[in-house]
Amino acid sequence: MKPTHLFQAEQIVAGYDHKTILHGISLVIPSNKISVMIGANACGKSTLLKTLARLIKPTSGTVTLDGKPISKIPPKQLARVVGLLPQSPIVPEGISVADLVGRGRFPHQSLFSGWTKKDVEAVAEAMEIMNITELANRNIDELSGGQRQRVWIAMALAQQTDILFLDEPTTFLDITYQVEILDLLTDLNRKKGTTIVMVLHDINLSARYADYIFALSQGKLLAEGKPAEVITSSLVKDIFGLDCTVIPDPVSGSPMVIPKGRYYVHEG
Ligand SMILES: Nc1ncnc2c1ncn2[C@@H]1O[C@H](COP(=O)(O)OP(=O)(O)OP(=O)(O)O)[C@@H](O)[C@H]1O
Ligand SMILES: [Mg+2]
Repeated sequence: MKPTHLFQAEQIVAGYDHKTILHGISLVIPSNKISVMIGANACGKSTLLKTLARLIKPTSGTVTLDGKPISKIPPKQLARVVGLLPQSPIVPEGISVADLVGRGRFPHQSLFSGWTKKDVEAVAEAMEIMNITELANRNIDELSGGQRQRVWIAMALAQQTDILFLDEPTTFLDITYQVEILDLLTDLNRKKGTTIVMVLHDINLSARYADYIFALSQGKLLAEGKPAEVITSSLVKDIFGLDCTVIPDPVSGSPMVIPKGRYYVHEG
């Protein structure tokens, strides 16, 4: 099992150039659990994940791993514990699936060690989990959006970090694959104890798969807790400005959001 880590953010303020996006966010990531961040477009979810993964330096506040500011941890060392799959990763040109997945091994390699048996095994395992082994020699440019998404997730898995941030890992995937990916990530969490924090837009799948929800609005943490406690019609109204009814999901019993909209009122 993956070790327990204390990963937390204290009063982080961050953004781009002179524009502040995150206005003082404090949180503790539940270790060895699955957390999901929800919130409207442009509320700051990706900015928060990037700040937690040290791609953005906060203007104030600190992010710490086991009590140590991540800004003081050498990059490779941090990358062996914390991984991030960004929302729109840049596809390197003319690279094969296996090579891209192999890039996830970079933090584990030194100048002298080169490519080890462990690296080969980690890449093979990640490709198998994501069901892309048969695509290994294909060029990334030739893949469908959904296939490519699975390659990116495999790359993140090959990194074998204790903590994994995923920014919208199910975008581009059809509903079967969305569920499949979330099941696979749950396997990873349950079997290996990997701490997973992801941004999802499907609030009902979030409620089903998350142990813990962080709800963001305009760069602030508006609510957090277990899905059953957090996902209510008033929170959905606050976060998305949407009128809805919340009922128990008939499959999982978790909260299920039914949008009202202006049409289709049931008259039965
Ligand atoms: N590189 C950047 N430079 C300047 N502003 C940016 C940059 N990236 C994001 N922003 C701005 O920061 C704000 C928050 O963006 P962010 O990507 O964090 O939102 P999000 O919650 O992830 O949205 P979405 O659900 O659409 O992915 C937005 O107003 C966006 O325009
Ligand atoms: Mg985003």
